[in-house]
Amino acid sequence: MKLRLGEILSEALETLNRLDDIGAIEACRVRLLGRKGELTQILKGMSAIDPKERPIIGDLANRIRNDIENKIKERTSFAEQRLLVKRLSEETVDVTLPGRYLGRGGLHPISIVLNEIKDIFMSMGFSIAEGPEIELDYYNFEALNIPKNHPARDSQDTFYITENILLRTHTSPMQVRVMENQKPPIRIIVPGRVYRSDAVDATHSPIFHQVEGLLIDKNVSMGDLKAVLDTFAKELFGLSTRTKFRPHHFQFTEPSAEMDASCSSCGGNGCRICSYTGWIEILGAGMVHPKVLRGCGIDPDEYSGFAFGMGIDRITNLKYGIDDIRLLFENDIRFLQQF
Ligand code: DAH
Repeated sequence: MKLRLGEILSEALETLNRLDDIGAIEACRVRLLGRKGELTQILKGMSAIDPKERPIIGDLANRIRNDIENKIKERTSFAEQRLLVKRLSEETVDVTLPGRYLGRGGLHPISIVLNEIKDIFMSMGFSIAEGPEIELDYYNFEALNIPKNHPARDSQDTFYITENILLRTHTSPMQVRVMENQKPPIRIIVPGRVYRSDAVDATHSPIFHQVEGLLIDKNVSMGDLKAVLDTFAKELFGLSTRTKFRPHHFQFTEPSAEMDASCSSCGGNGCRICSYTGWIEILGAGMVHPKVLRGCGIDPDEYSGFAFGMGIDRITNLKYGIDDIRLLFENDIRFLQQF
């Protein structure tokens, strides 16, 4: 019996030493130490053994069981370690492989130009105000001296929501909102989206962008207007840019003007961009109408000021030589990636 026990131990150790797979080790444990294993059977059958031998055999069998259990623990941890090393070696990152290109976002050309415009006016002491795109008829028209049924409304094909609520057709309503709430001196620009029910083509979009400007103070003159807007044009298009002011009509300014800048593409010689005139229309402007000032609670005998408004989409197209406004709204990544 002692001999058999010794054999069981040496066979078990020999088998286990060859195993390095967790599943195989577990199967071996069940075979050696499980209920049906030879060792268990020997321990169960102790009562049949000569009582004098019993303690010696029992002790030996238990020690062998312990030895086998220890061996199993040792082999299991060896197998686990091996598995870990294998997994780590398979998972290593090959830092020499070229990286995967994730693509990089960028600013929309309208945002780039708008940021430039904001910087220029902020450097002249203007701050930025924003207002609602869904606007009251009162602010969009009435308070700007464009009464109901006035022909001036015809030029702004308006999306009405109700009789008195509409999508703003320009950023000018913010002039009124600011003057109602702020005492002069006022120096603001208002960037934002505006809406007109125009058919889409290369130069028209039902949604586009404007920047409005308003400066109100004591003794503001047309000369101040010209100086500020000429400086703006030189900053935006280059220091050699020249400007000229043509008389115009807006309901909310008097006198009114449109400003042209010399074409930055050809320097004023005439090219495709400026339709061979050498000039490009940039904005509308004028001295704020006394009626508008009075309507906002500002005394036109004490204060005066000027306002201006420009289309950002058009200026963006001019700056980048883009000839179709639809490109700015289609979000074709191949187009946008160029900026
Ligand atoms: N709101 C005008 C438009 O959309 C542009 C404009 C002209 C704004 C003259 C002004 C201004 O503030 O003084 O066509």
